[in-house]
Amino acid sequence: MKRDMMDKDIQEVLFSQEQLARRVDEIAEEISRDYAGKEIMLVSVLRGSFIFMADLCRRIKVPCTVDFMAVSSYGAGTSSTGQVQITKDLSGDIAGKHLIVVEDILDSGNTLSYLLNVLEQRQPASIRLCTLLNKPERRVKPVKLHYSGFTVPDAFVVGYGLDYAERYRNLPYIGVLKPEIYGG
Ligand code: IMP
Ligand code: MG
Repeated sequence: MKRDMMDKDIQEVLFSQEQLARRVDEIAEEISRDYAGKEIMLVSVLRGSFIFMADLCRRIKVPCTVDFMAVSSYGAGTSSTGQVQITKDLSGDIAGKHLIVVEDILDSGNTLSYLLNVLEQRQPASIRLCTLLNKPERRVKPVKLHYSGFTVPDAFVVGYGLDYAERYRNLPYIGVLKPEIYGG
């Protein structure tokens, strides 16, 4: 299979397909243990988390429903503005449910602190955050994190759902994008 068109834009592979699969397994185990005897609802924040969500939910062993939300964040740039807008809301009620919000990456925290606030007002029974990647160096808003896959350095990463200007989501691994691609 020829991926040269995208692979050549990657400076360094951070997590291989195998590493991602192993870590997703571990997180799913942890969630299944923590919620034994309960039913959960996974809320995926589109679009970056769609691949993580799909892999994670298949490995979770407790009864589970899924729903999706979309928020505007970056446009084609590489840092968030602090201005967050819900562009697609959940399709159903979440009152009394055990929610796990599934994100691709926790960066400044702007998106998730806003989103968690909105969801808490709808009175779920509980709410936890699960992010595949965590970039703590860039945090400007504190966010309580329960499940985290990997900590990443302050670099722009793509693949396994994460994009730059909507591209690279279909790379099966996660890598650092060459700064010259986004003019960094
Ligand atoms: P935050 O509001 O700054 O925490 O940014 C959250 C969103 O920005 C994430 O859900 C991603 O969609 C996007 N984002 C942040 N850092 C990166 C990155 O390194 N690569 C790709 N997307 C990113
Ligand atoms: Mg995202």
